[in-house]
Amino acid sequence: MAFAKPNFEALKLASEAVREAPKLEGVPTGVPGLDELFFITEFKGDKPVTRPLPGFPRYAAIHVTGVSDTGKSLLAEQFTLAQAERGEGVIFVTVEVPANFVSVGLEQRRQAMRIDKKAMDHVLLVDAASHDELREDLPSLLSTLDVALGKVEARHLVVDSLTGLYEAKEIAARALVRKLYAYTKDRGLTAIFTSQKRSGHEELSAEAAGGYVVSHVMDATLVLAKKLVMSTAQAKIWKKPIGELVRFFRIDGSRMCGHDSRTHFMEITPEGLLVVGPPVGGEEA
Ligand SMILES: Nc1ncnc2c1ncn2[C@@H]1O[C@H](COP(=O)(O)OP(=O)(O)O)[C@@H](O)[C@H]1O
Ligand SMILES: [Mg+2]
Repeated sequence: MAFAKPNFEALKLASEAVREAPKLEGVPTGVPGLDELFFITEFKGDKPVTRPLPGFPRYAAIHVTGVSDTGKSLLAEQFTLAQAERGEGVIFVTVEVPANFVSVGLEQRRQAMRIDKKAMDHVLLVDAASHDELREDLPSLLSTLDVALGKVEARHLVVDSLTGLYEAKEIAARALVRKLYAYTKDRGLTAIFTSQKRSGHEELSAEAAGGYVVSHVMDATLVLAKKLVMSTAQAKIWKKPIGELVRFFRIDGSRMCGHDSRTHFMEITPEGLLVVGPPVGGEEA
């Protein structure tokens, strides 16, 4: 049996890798109630002390999944504005909705979040909804992103939604998701990827279009869900009258830092802002 040449570049001592690893720090999520749900454990002498990070771990690729109208795009937009407000550049790839419509949504969110107009100068929209080749040819998308990166000195990437990049070719989804993930790591970006859940999927699971592919690849998965109150038992637990909509939020996993794993109530305010509320089972649960 013939052996191929070894790849020496792939070898690294753990002690060396840990010296080169980025420091764990939080990036504000832009969603009230969410920053505190990611935490870090440090050792003070022998004693482990856990504190909020707070926010998403920087350099993480975050997967946000849910069926339609659960607030994925709101989360993507609020995240975008929270970075732009601090002067950190964001590339927002819009896959389904043309850029000028996205800008209207962003503008509404900006006003609701009371963020200065100047923040919008740090957001670069990439319109993959209007340009087929960006959706159908990943190399075209990546080279366009490289140009975009330079324009706003981007430290963040938002893709809304990933599903639109592998529609009708789910076999290719794994390779595409891996390549995009590797791209964010190579360019040192913190990223948000939204993805569609099918109505047949269990509401609060991490399964998205294409199965568990996206969740397996990404560093963290957030699940957004909604349910109609249809029984007196539900009305009692969820504290809403029969016939009303209740929204839920859950962090399914995060490999870069600790996180709250409870299911939380979530709301969309009349101004159109996503807010994460208390855990469904109460604070002690
Ligand atoms: N400006 C707004 N004011 C009030 N509610 C809004 C506003 N924008 C969106 N919403 C509500 O938020 C819901 C979720 O929106 P969206 O984030 O677009 O969902 P998704 O991306 O998951 O499909 C909408 O169905 C709507 O009820
Ligand atoms: Mg959406």
